[in-house]
Amino acid sequence: MKLDTLYNRDCIAGMAEIPAGSIDLAFADPPFNIGYTYDVYEDRRAADEYLDWTKQWGAAVVRALKPTGTFWLAIGDDFAAETKMIFQRELGLFCRSWVIWYYTFGVNCKFKFSRSHTHLFHFVKDPKNFTFNHDAIRVPSARQLVYADARADAKGRLPDDTWILRPQDAAHSFTPEEDVWYFPRVCGTFKERAGFHGCQMPEQLLGRIIETSSNPGDTILEPFGGSGTTLIVAKKLDRRFLGFELSKNYADQIHSRLKSTKIGDPLSGAAEPTVSAPTTANGKQRKTTNPTPPNPIAPATKRPRKKSAPTLQTPSMF
Ligand SMILES: C[S@@+](CC[C@H](N)C(=O)[O-])C[C@H]1O[C@@H](n2cnc3c(N)ncnc32)[C@H](O)[C@@H]1O
Repeated sequence: MKLDTLYNRDCIAGMAEIPAGSIDLAFADPPFNIGYTYDVYEDRRAADEYLDWTKQWGAAVVRALKPTGTFWLAIGDDFAAETKMIFQRELGLFCRSWVIWYYTFGVNCKFKFSRSHTHLFHFVKDPKNFTFNHDAIRVPSARQLVYADARADAKGRLPDDTWILRPQDAAHSFTPEEDVWYFPRVCGTFKERAGFHGCQMPEQLLGRIIETSSNPGDTILEPFGGSGTTLIVAKKLDRRFLGFELSKNYADQIHSRLKSTKIGDPLSGAAEPTVSAPTTANGKQRKTTNPTPPNPIAPATKRPRKKSAPTLQTPSMF
């Protein structure tokens, strides 16, 4: 099978042709079985049928992984528990992290809390032997930033396992020193949006996963191409890649995205929290009346107590 290629075909049939044990990192963002409208795939199946299909493509991923390989899975609430069990109990992977990716512009719900997160499971084949480039993703610690603690590790700390962005907060509530990473969902108005697929993932999120769990030159597998984010980011970060996408329409558009992407191109979206409030296609942003908001994690200074009744304020994170 030719590397650096996106195939317009069913991923289970396609993955059967990948040599066993040849993939360093696989990332899958499958349909969540929630009735989402794709152009070819029908996203509303009986639960048993969906889970049986998950076992089939999951087994194909696991077969393709090297003994030192890593698998990241994005999945919604509805099947997160069952899917985690399939990969751990039936397919023999080990779960290293259960990351929550929290985003705004989630699904507005009427009779339940609005959905604003996706589960990201970080699985490995061998819990004693896998790639985890922790120095590539370190962030400053509170010991360094807030307490000036001499015991602080100068290299910073690993990020939390909740990855957040509330774009409306970014300018006012977060500073460059914050130690959580923020990734907005790629909304219709954002400049990053390719425009043909509603499930496009942010490049910065894939960037973190690929940089942590693989090295330049490694091979990345993406069974569910979608808008092509995984493949685009793999190429930009100088990884080899192999992908599948059922829809001809999506596959054609991924091909043209890949054509216009070069190794070393910067990832779309901002990695820096303070500027990660997304740019819209026409650069639209609300004018701020307070260009220098207070730093919420700066060392506390004594402020006079207000006598007035407390007002309701937007918390910085939740
Ligand atoms: C949630 S989307 C992936 C979005 C992607 N992560 C992105 O950032 O654009 C899932 C994709 O899987 C594709 N798909 C569904 N069944 C498939 C199959 N059996 N083989 C290959 N692709 C499939 C759908 O057409 C859809 O584009």
